[in-house]
Amino acid sequence: MFLNQKERLLLQDQKSHEEACIQKYQEFANRAQDPQLKQLFSTYASKEQEHLNTINQILSGQIPALPQQGQQQQNLFNQGQGSTYNENDAKLCQDALMTEKYVSSTYNTTIFECTNTNVRQILNHIQKEEQEHGEGIFNYMKNTGMYTLQ
Ligand SMILES: [Fe+2]
Ligand SMILES: [Fe+2]
Repeated sequence: MFLNQKERLLLQDQKSHEEACIQKYQEFANRAQDPQLKQLFSTYASKEQEHLNTINQILSGQIPALPQQGQQQQNLFNQGQGSTYNENDAKLCQDALMTEKYVSSTYNTTIFECTNTNVRQILNHIQKEEQEHGEGIFNYMKNTGMYTLQ
C-alpha cells in the first residue's frame, strides 16, 4: 500500500503518541498505590503496545487485519470499589484521562486524511479503544470518589 506524505507524517505522530502512552502507563503502573489501578494501567500499557505494532505495520505498507473485539476491557470497566483514594493516584488518573482525550482527538484528525478504507477502519477501532481506556479511568475515578458527578 502506498502512503502519501501527509498520511505518513500523521501516522508517524500517532506512532510517537503510542510510544509515549506505553511509557506513561508502565511508569504509572509502578507509581500507583492501589493494586486495582496498577492492574488497569499495566493492561493499558499492553493495549498501547498493540496499537504501536498496528501503526508500525501500516507505516511499513501493510494493511493489518481488523482486531477482534476484546472482552478484557469489559472486566476493567468497574474497577475501584473503595470509598477512599490516594491523592497521588488521583493525579495519575487525571493525567491519563487527559492523555487519552488528546490521543483520541489526534486519531480523529488522522482518520480524515486516510485514502484507504481499511486503514480508516483500523484507526477507527484504535480510536474506539482509546475512548474505552478513558471510560475505564473515568469509572475508576467515579467509583473511588475522585470524580464527583454533579
Ligand atoms: Fe493507543
Ligand atoms: Fe489509550
